[in-house]
Amino acid sequence: MHHLAVLSLGACNKKGLVSIMNPITMLKEDHKKVKGLFKEYRDAGPTAHKTKEGIAQKAMHELMVHSQIEEEIFYPAAKAASGKESKHMVAEAVEEHHVVDVLMEEIKTLDPQDERFDAKFIVLMENVEHHIEEEEDELFPEVEDAIADKSKLDQIGEKMHRRKEELMKVAV
Ligand SMILES: [Fe+2]
Ligand SMILES: [Fe+2]
Repeated sequence: MHHLAVLSLGACNKKGLVSIMNPITMLKEDHKKVKGLFKEYRDAGPTAHKTKEGIAQKAMHELMVHSQIEEEIFYPAAKAASGKESKHMVAEAVEEHHVVDVLMEEIKTLDPQDERFDAKFIVLMENVEHHIEEEEDELFPEVEDAIADKSKLDQIGEKMHRRKEELMKVAV
């Protein structure tokens, strides 16, 4: 009896894992994490330079891994599966990533005490928040409709999950 209970718990966990593999759920989880870090940054206060530098570094690392996974795996899949409208959204999203990349490169060269550090990171946060909104409100629903085949979605999710583990290990 006991043994059976453990077994069914195992099955339940496995099911939970499959639903985490949904690529859109995965990306939304990343978004949530980044937005949480942005809140920490804003709450840290104007003189907490060291704290803010740490939070900014963490957020930028998350963003680099996230946007790389989107560009390598999710966006191509989105483009392949959906119509003209989505292709245009993806093209715009790639340019938005590019703007954030440029900001990140500049931020990395600045002293956290420099007022431009804070100014640039604030602009970065605003850009990323706008980008996240567009992805979640426009692109993701389109892709979800276009890729109705659940196993195809899981396949993409699994690929992204594996790539994320790789990237989180390398890029510190
Ligand atoms: Fe993105
Ligand atoms: Fe995203």
